[in-house]
Amino acid sequence: MSYKPKPMRTLTLTFLSSLLGVALLNSCGSNQENKQKAMIEKSAFGTTADGQAADLYTLRNAEGMEARITNFGGVIVSLTAPDRNGNYQDVTLGFDSLASYEKGSPYFGSLIGRYGNRIAKGRFTLDGKQYTLATNNMGNHLHGGIKGFDKVIWNAQPIEGEEPALKLTYTSKDGEEGYPGNLAVEVTYTLQKDNSLKIDYKATTDKPTVVNLTNHSYFNLAGKGDILGHELTLNADRFLPVDQTLIPTGELKPVAGTVFDFTKSTPMGARINDSTDTQIKYGLGYDHAWVFSDTSNTLKQVATVYEPTTGRVMEVSTTEPAIQFYTGNFLDGTLTGKGGVTYAKRTGFCLETEHYPDSPNLPKFPSTTLRPGETYQSTTIYTFSARK
Ligand code: BGC
Repeated sequence: MSYKPKPMRTLTLTFLSSLLGVALLNSCGSNQENKQKAMIEKSAFGTTADGQAADLYTLRNAEGMEARITNFGGVIVSLTAPDRNGNYQDVTLGFDSLASYEKGSPYFGSLIGRYGNRIAKGRFTLDGKQYTLATNNMGNHLHGGIKGFDKVIWNAQPIEGEEPALKLTYTSKDGEEGYPGNLAVEVTYTLQKDNSLKIDYKATTDKPTVVNLTNHSYFNLAGKGDILGHELTLNADRFLPVDQTLIPTGELKPVAGTVFDFTKSTPMGARINDSTDTQIKYGLGYDHAWVFSDTSNTLKQVATVYEPTTGRVMEVSTTEPAIQFYTGNFLDGTLTGKGGVTYAKRTGFCLETEHYPDSPNLPKFPSTTLRPGETYQSTTIYTFSARK
C-alpha cells in the first residue's frame, strides 16, 4: 500500500472531449482553493497471458481523491482517502502489475460474478434443471468459478465530468463457467464529489439464470499493518452461520449476545480469536454474511469503519440485503503487493455487499434468479471521510 498518486503520463482520451472536459471542469473548480480538476485518464496496464491488452483508468475528483481501475476484472487497483490531516493515501490492497493479478490474486479489488461467494458443491437446480459449476473452494463453487468476472477483460467507456465514471460492460456467454443464459453485465464506477466511490451494477439475460454481483476490495484504512484496531459498526441484527466449508446452514441467527454483534462500534480484533465460538473457528475469524436490519431493497447505510490512528472513516451504503465481512484470514504473507509490501494475515478486510451465499440452493433466502425481461440492478457506495 505504498502507492502514492503521482503525475500522470497518460493518453488523453480524445482531444475534443478533453477540451470540453477541461472547460467544464475549470468552471466548476476555479474559485475554490486547493481544489483540483476532476478528470479521468487512461494508460496501458499490460497484456494478459493470452495476449489481450488491459488498460488502467485513473479517476480523480476535485478534492484530490483518486481511484485507479483496470478493465481486467474491473479491479480497483488503488483508491486514496483522506486522513484527519487531509493526507490522501491508498487504502486498498493490490498489486503493481497485471501479471500478479492474473497469477494468484485473492480477488484484490475485483468485480465478482456471475455469483459472488459460494454455491454448495457447485450445483443448483433452476426450473427443474440441474446445473454443474466448477468446485474451486473446499468442494464448493466460489466467486463465479475458475475464470470468473474477476479474470476477464471488460469493455471500458470512460465518462468525463465533475464526477468521472468508468462504465464497464461484459457479456458472459451461455454456459460460461456452467451458468445458463447469455448475461449482459454493466458495471459503472463513479468517483463522486463527496469522496465516495459508487458502483452501479446491471444485468440482463436471455435464459433464466442466477446472479449475485459484488466488488471484492480489501481495505486497510491505516494504509499499513493489520486491521484489528479498525472499529466496525454493522446495521445488521442477524448473520448466517455456516458449516465447516463455509456454506450457510440456512439459519438466520440473531447477533445479539454473540461475537458477531457489531451493532455498536467494536474493534474488528476484539473478539476475532474467540476459540469458544464454532463459527469463528470455521471462518478462521470473520468470513460470514450479515443480514441487514433494514430489509428494504432501497439504498441504505449499512456499515461504518473507523480507523483511530488516522481518523479515516469508510461508510458503506447499498441496495443489497447482506454483506460478507471477511477479515483476510487466508492472507498468509506469501503475496507481495504494491510497492513490495507483503500481505500478512488480517492486513485487509472486505465488506462485500451481496445477496446471501448459496441462495440458489436455499429457497427461503431472497431469490437470486434473473429471468429474461427482468433487469438485475444493484448499487453500493463506499464513502470516505476523516474524524478529527
Ligand atoms: C470469502 C472467503 C475467501 C475470500 C477470498 C471471501 O468473499 O468469503 O472465504 O477466502 O473471499 O477468496
